[in-house]
Amino acid sequence: MGQPALLIRRISSISPALHAAARALLADPLTNKGTAFTEAERDRLGLHGLLPPHVGTLDSQIARRRRALERQPDDFHRYAFLRELQDSNEVLFHALVQSDLPRMLPLVYTPTVGEGCERFSEIWRRPRGLFLSWPNRNRIADILADPALDRVKVIVVSDGERILGLGDQGAGGMGIPIGKLALYTACAGFHPAEVLPILLDVGTDNAARRDDPLYVGWRNPRIRGDDYDAFVEAFVTAVAERFPKALLQWEDFAGHNAYRLLDRYRDRLLSFNDDIQGTATTAVGTLLAAIRRTGETLADQRIVLFGAGAAGTGIADLLVRVMIADGQDEAAARGRIWAVDRDGLIVQGMNALTTQQAAFARDAGDVASWGNAGPHISLATTVASVRPTVLIGASGQHDAFDEQVIRSMAAATPQPIIFPLSNPVSRAEASPADLIAWTEGRALIGTGSPFGVAGVTQVNNVYVFPGIGLGALAVGATRITDGMFMAAARELGTLDESGAGPLLPPIDDLRPVAIRIAEVVAREAIADGVVPELPTEPIPDLVRQDLWDATYA
Ligand code: NAI
Repeated sequence: MGQPALLIRRISSISPALHAAARALLADPLTNKGTAFTEAERDRLGLHGLLPPHVGTLDSQIARRRRALERQPDDFHRYAFLRELQDSNEVLFHALVQSDLPRMLPLVYTPTVGEGCERFSEIWRRPRGLFLSWPNRNRIADILADPALDRVKVIVVSDGERILGLGDQGAGGMGIPIGKLALYTACAGFHPAEVLPILLDVGTDNAARRDDPLYVGWRNPRIRGDDYDAFVEAFVTAVAERFPKALLQWEDFAGHNAYRLLDRYRDRLLSFNDDIQGTATTAVGTLLAAIRRTGETLADQRIVLFGAGAAGTGIADLLVRVMIADGQDEAAARGRIWAVDRDGLIVQGMNALTTQQAAFARDAGDVASWGNAGPHISLATTVASVRPTVLIGASGQHDAFDEQVIRSMAAATPQPIIFPLSNPVSRAEASPADLIAWTEGRALIGTGSPFGVAGVTQVNNVYVFPGIGLGALAVGATRITDGMFMAAARELGTLDESGAGPLLPPIDDLRPVAIRIAEVVAREAIADGVVPELPTEPIPDLVRQDLWDATYA
């Protein structure tokens, strides 16, 4: 007797609808598990054959993706690789990111995201978030009505005009909202379906982008003036109607729009500008951590600010608020800050000062004796005359903190606090290696981008914005007040207990940091009267109750 013939079923038991649903499941990054679908799931969901036979685990998937990631030729390709992973399997993407935040953060966000925005069109593959373009201005409400967006709690929006220190990237600016929201998930536990990146495509004045045949954005010079304002107004109105409780975070708008839009909308919905207020909170928090080390008070400091744009004046404003809250009068607080911009030290009577800059203008008489060579008072002269204890750069001017400036500062200050904040690395005002050399290792250094130099703090907004959003949303705040930023900055300034090395906790700790920040922000929101329904549960429970972890359901 031979072997019995193998019995192979010839009639399919899978309906066309199940076939379609199986493919849709794998195509949707929110439901796809790749090889981690179990045998039982493959049976039930009709997935056999669409996946290789091996059944893996999330851990084995992380290991496989990590190896493939590291084999990419450079960080830009690693960025593109991670973006593609995010668009095919969100749990795996976030699990990989969270498995090694110090390694992954610079790949999904600064500095690599800069090149990701510049080369966005080259790597564009699948839709993520929403592009609201000027030609579609009458369809905004239709686009937002998508039921797939029902769970949205946090929106990050950019118009792509001032991407990091890289200028106008048009539609490529979408890389920023996508990256920031990946960090909201990693650090503050927002489910990927609760976050929404939006790019307002009003054209670009970057001719290289417009003339690039591969550019995916709207090929038109930027819409400006009243038309631009009407477009933004239509957008904000539609957001407020569709997502009345959501947080709207503004990112990388050019300075002239950033302040205007912040002023216009901060009292209309739960909203903040990360470049102005997030940067200010992070920089001030780091500065508070630094003076904890040096054993001084803020009122003891002489602060020179280089680059008085959105970030710089935001920092200066918050510093003044903290000093006033500490008991100084406003004039004395402003008197601790010297702001230098492209035309040198900001002095009263200068042309074309913004309102924010004018608030820090020095009296011309006070600086007349500084013996400057030209009509403008340079950074070098300012430093030599002020003998600052703190030097902050937010100018986007590479190597502006040169050896002469730094040696002159270090000669007058035992522990100079120096923060070259401009991003990406190619725009940083100084490299940590030079700062260490020119100050004989005495400086407390904070940089905007990661340099990988031991002891140097990364003054990255990721230390505060996820916690601010989490805290505000946890208690149902309707506005984000100045007090909430101040509370976050003060909390950030107390988080490092080591007393040596970097001034902020390690990147590995970003989730506990976000939770600490969220708690103080939530409390301050209640204290400031912007929480209409006072919570009955304790704040620590509220901020922790909905945290999402990247695991398969
Ligand atoms: P912005 O365009 O509003 O401000 C830049 C300012 O620098 C302007 O006032 C401009 O006039 C001034 N400036 C230009 N050339 C100068 C020169 N030669 N000397 C002195 N000042 C000069 O841009 P924003 O948003 O303030 O950002 C500035 C930089 O700060 C960017 O590189 C950005 O990446 C960085 N930044 C860093 C953050 C962080 O580390 N956490 C967060 C936000 C911004």
